[in-house]
Amino acid sequence: MNPLNHVAIIMDGNGRWGIKFKNSRKAGHKAGLIVVEKIIKETIKHKIKFLTLFAFSTENWKRPKNEVDYLFNLLENFLINKIENLHNQNIKLKILGTKKFSKKLNQLLKKSETKTSKNTQLQINLALNYGSKSELIGAFKKLKKNKSNINEKNISKNLQTGSIPDPDLLIRTGNTKRLSNFLLWQLAYTEIFFEKKLWPAFNEKDYNKVIKEYKSIKRNYGTI
Ligand code: FPP
Repeated sequence: MNPLNHVAIIMDGNGRWGIKFKNSRKAGHKAGLIVVEKIIKETIKHKIKFLTLFAFSTENWKRPKNEVDYLFNLLENFLINKIENLHNQNIKLKILGTKKFSKKLNQLLKKSETKTSKNTQLQINLALNYGSKSELIGAFKKLKKNKSNINEKNISKNLQTGSIPDPDLLIRTGNTKRLSNFLLWQLAYTEIFFEKKLWPAFNEKDYNKVIKEYKSIKRNYGTI
C-alpha cells in the first residue's frame, strides 16, 4: 500500500454548481467552503500530514470584481471564525503565493500563519494568488542571486514549498483535465485523479474512494 503524506486539490466547479443549483456563482463558493471543512476533517482521520488547496490563482484576478471580493470576504470570515479551532486541532496554516491583498487580509493571513506555525498534526497549504511559473522564476532568481548551482535539490529548496514533500496525490474536481499553473515542478511524479463531480458536490465518500484507489496503485517512478 502506498504511503500518503501529501494531498493536493484543485477545487474546481464552484461557479458551475452555484449557477446550476442556486442561480449564483457566489453560492457555489460558499458551498465549496463547507466541503473544504469536511475534507480537512477527513484528511486528519487518514493521518495525512500535508493538504494543499488551490483557492485562488494569479489568473483568477480576471474574474468580475464582485466575485473576487466575495471570495476574499469568505476567506476573511473563515479565518476570523475558524483559526482558533484549527489551532486547537494542532493544524498549521501556510500560505503559498504572493500576499498582495487588502491590508486587513494580509495581516490576518500573517497572524494565522504565525499563530499556528508550531502545530504538527496537519499542515494546510493554502495557495492564494499562486502561480507555479512565477514561483519557479522566483526560485531561479534566488539561485542566480546567491550564485548557487542549478540542480533539482536547489530548485526544490527555493520554491515556496521549500521543505514540504511533493504531493503524492492530486485531485482535480469539476470534470476538467488540466493543471492550471498549479505546482508544475512538484507534481512531476504525483498520481493524478480527475473527478467529474463539481467541488461543492464532492464529499467524504468520494475522497475516500480516491484515497483507496491511490493506495493500490503501483508507483514506479520510472522503473518497472
Ligand atoms: C474554482 O471554481 C474555485 C475557486 C476559484 C475558489 C475556491 C474557493 C473555495 C473552495 C471556497 C473558499 C475557500 C476558502 C479557503 C476561503 P470555479 O469558480 O472556477 O468554478 P467554475 O469552473 O465552475 O467556474
